[in-house]
Amino acid sequence: MINFKKQIAISIAEAIKLNNNQNQELKLNKQQIENYIEIPKDETNGDYAFPCFRLAKELKKAPQAIANEIRENIKIEEQIIEKVEVVGGYLNFYINNQLLIKETIKEIQEKEYYGASKIGEGKNIVLDYSSPNIAKDFHIGHLRTTVIGAALYNIYKYLGYHTIGINHLGDYGTQFAKLIEGYKRWGKEYNLEEKPIEELTKIYVRINDAIKEDESILEACRENFRLLESGDKYCKELWEKFRDLSMKEFQKIYDLLGVKFDAVIGESFYSDKVANIEKLLEEAGVLEDSEGAKIVDLSDKGLGVCIIRKANGSSIYAARDLAAIKYRAETYDFDKCLYVVAYEQALHFKQIFEVAKYLQIPEKCVKGLEHVQYGMVRLSSGKMSTRGGNVVKIEDLLKESIQRVEKIIEEKNPNIENKKEEAKKIGIGAVIFNNLANTIIKDQIFDWDNVLNFQGETGPYIQYTYVRTQSVLEKAGKIPNAEQINTELLTDKLSSSVLKLIYNFNDILVQVTEKNDPSILSRYLIDLAKSFSVFYNENKIICEDENVQAARLYLTFAVGKVLKLGAKLLGIEMPNKM
Ligand code: ARG
Repeated sequence: MINFKKQIAISIAEAIKLNNNQNQELKLNKQQIENYIEIPKDETNGDYAFPCFRLAKELKKAPQAIANEIRENIKIEEQIIEKVEVVGGYLNFYINNQLLIKETIKEIQEKEYYGASKIGEGKNIVLDYSSPNIAKDFHIGHLRTTVIGAALYNIYKYLGYHTIGINHLGDYGTQFAKLIEGYKRWGKEYNLEEKPIEELTKIYVRINDAIKEDESILEACRENFRLLESGDKYCKELWEKFRDLSMKEFQKIYDLLGVKFDAVIGESFYSDKVANIEKLLEEAGVLEDSEGAKIVDLSDKGLGVCIIRKANGSSIYAARDLAAIKYRAETYDFDKCLYVVAYEQALHFKQIFEVAKYLQIPEKCVKGLEHVQYGMVRLSSGKMSTRGGNVVKIEDLLKESIQRVEKIIEEKNPNIENKKEEAKKIGIGAVIFNNLANTIIKDQIFDWDNVLNFQGETGPYIQYTYVRTQSVLEKAGKIPNAEQINTELLTDKLSSSVLKLIYNFNDILVQVTEKNDPSILSRYLIDLAKSFSVFYNENKIICEDENVQAARLYLTFAVGKVLKLGAKLLGIEMPNKM
């Protein structure tokens, strides 16, 4: 498929060269120019726009003057670009519509994985997501990292990157020593097999209460931790039991969501690797003693103090994360290591990324560390709490979503086949989409009426639009061949808006990886579904004129295909009927 953006970037680069003394090498290369090219929100501003203020500094000229100069000198093939206009400091490019349509429909037919590419080939991307804490609730924040992480994973992979998805389980720390102590005392009273996390939480609360009454119990807990660290059989077995039972609970959620990991490597894995981290920091001359603790002082960088080992000798979250960076750099030679973790942990990541400079790992790894921050999900009302408190059990939430959809189906369309399966796809899809509906850094509100609104900007709306495309195609009985389509019949405003969006699919996926925000794809799918709905309401697809019908059917097919591929990348399956 012709890459219009690239073509434009090349033409701009050449025009700039002509304007400015041929010999002077421009610092800005074609790739950067291409990165600056935008797709205007408003179609009247063309298909692509180049903001010239990006060049103002280097060329020491006003943006509008630069735009005019480029406009004068630019050489473009008229078969590709119909016109170029200067508006303020922008150059707006208008692509030959028919060419764009031809290219798009051909590509849609040829490529099973339309929009996929190989730009990531040879690059390793580690994604750290989900990462709940064992013996504790998998909360709504963990749901969000799971969904965002899985979507990023899929999209990077689709663009040819080698992706490694890691669940960095919180399976280590002094709380387990307390749990062990509680279990030793009252284990028999609790039925861990049935509701492990609930029961473990009860033990945890009880032992903490006991400690409040009698501080000496804390000493027993510390002893347990020492035993655990030195590999004591009983403590280790107990800890493994807690871990396995918790993981089994989490697995139910992962199965419902359809989320997988390449590796589940918990924090405990790094406990014996922390000593080496301390050694490296010592050698680098940055490890300091502070009231018995070991720290790296980052206050000159405005990042406070990063504690590496506590005064009582136990290892700590940050140190285990540093060991994980070292391990991942050595094991995966990553180009990027993305941490999908709530914004509350921003300081933690700033600190460890700073300290990572001393771990003797390749420069590219240090540079590739990135905290992908997301906002909280807030529940719109207290109604959702399942246990009196403000905690929602995620498994219950997902199941409730499915049940609510079952009810809607029962009311609206009780005769569809495989009701249960379809309800699952819709119920789960709705929750996933809600987590990705807006820029991920923003807090998101969870409200059932909104999440399951088939007409709102929701997962079900995208699925509903998809189902519509499929029933039209079913009615027609066949999908026409791309070669037989008269593209002139698709140059009207509504059709070409739809097809332009389809052309941009790959660009959208690239944007997701540039910003590490899958909501760019969610918004796109909403735009595509809306744009198709307008087309659908204004045009009869199955109609008298055979050629018109074929062209419109093809467009319908293309929309269905992109909606399905795009949703799948977000982790959402399409129902056949709804
Ligand atoms: N277990 C942590 C939590 O629930 C998140 C871990 C994130 N990943 C990491 N490498 N620190 O808050």
